[in-house]
Amino acid sequence: MPKPIRKAVFPVAGLGTRFLPATKAVPKEMLPVVDRPLIDYAVAEAAAAGVTHMIFVTAKGKSALQNHLDRHVELEAVLRTKGKTAELERLAAVVPDGVRCSVEIQTAPLGLGHAVWCARRIVGDEPFAVILPDDVVMAGTGCLAQMIARYGATGGNLLAVQDVPPERTDRYGILDVGNDEDWPGGVAEVRGLVEKPAPADAPSTLSIIGRYILQPEIFSVLENGERGAGGEIQLTDAIAALIGRQPVHGYRFEGVRFDCGDRQGWLSANVAFALQRPDLEGIRDKLRRLIESD
Ligand code: UTP
Repeated sequence: MPKPIRKAVFPVAGLGTRFLPATKAVPKEMLPVVDRPLIDYAVAEAAAAGVTHMIFVTAKGKSALQNHLDRHVELEAVLRTKGKTAELERLAAVVPDGVRCSVEIQTAPLGLGHAVWCARRIVGDEPFAVILPDDVVMAGTGCLAQMIARYGATGGNLLAVQDVPPERTDRYGILDVGNDEDWPGGVAEVRGLVEKPAPADAPSTLSIIGRYILQPEIFSVLENGERGAGGEIQLTDAIAALIGRQPVHGYRFEGVRFDCGDRQGWLSANVAFALQRPDLEGIRDKLRRLIESD
């Protein structure tokens, strides 16, 4: 049995330039999907998967994110006095009881690989999860819980993956696969990883999304600080360096992924989650009318 996954790293130090000006003063991870900020979906998914220590790698100027994760004692007191129990419960759900939170600062936006490396001291010598909150996965069983269940058999490094249209491979990290269980919940052996290949050069259409289970050896690779695509220290490159030394698998998760770092993905997530909410029943008709009158 591989060691259990108790810790998760949330790299939240990015600049969110695709969402400017909305993200000028509000961190991208604080953009709401319906009425919960993106970070809440990520925290809830990690907690449901059994993670008990969450490490947020953030940047200066993102204090709204830290405030959101902290308790707001005065607000709680006001809600209590007014008897607003439902609202109090919603606040309490932001970070579930029994979960420890730590914060690390990434002093410069040197890339996702660098952000993960910033968490090395707190993670220590044990396997851990990485969750990118801008990828929201709508699923019955959360994406990370699905991965952890499968990790019990694969061990090593596990990357959540999904097929993308062949003409879009140049936007994603793409897998070169060996043995491939081509069904939802299946795993694919990873022989290589290519960052944003042109469609003609792509070894497959399987792309990595923002959920990873990694072994601590990744830190010694990231330590080299090698720059990759865009001059950034890429997590994909560091994982690629582990191939052959440790098992690396892609996991075809069950569920729908929304890339909320992108405007269309974020808008679709809002619509999809709103359509599932019994308290927002009227939205279906409103959307239908909007589309018909377009
Ligand atoms: P993105 O590629 O989406 O970059 O990062 P970004 O800066 O957040 O957004 P855009 O592209 O400018 O709009 C993917 C994930 O990696 C984190 C981000 O916070 C996001 O969760 N990240 C990226 C860091 O934590 N640090 C970095 O230096 C880069």
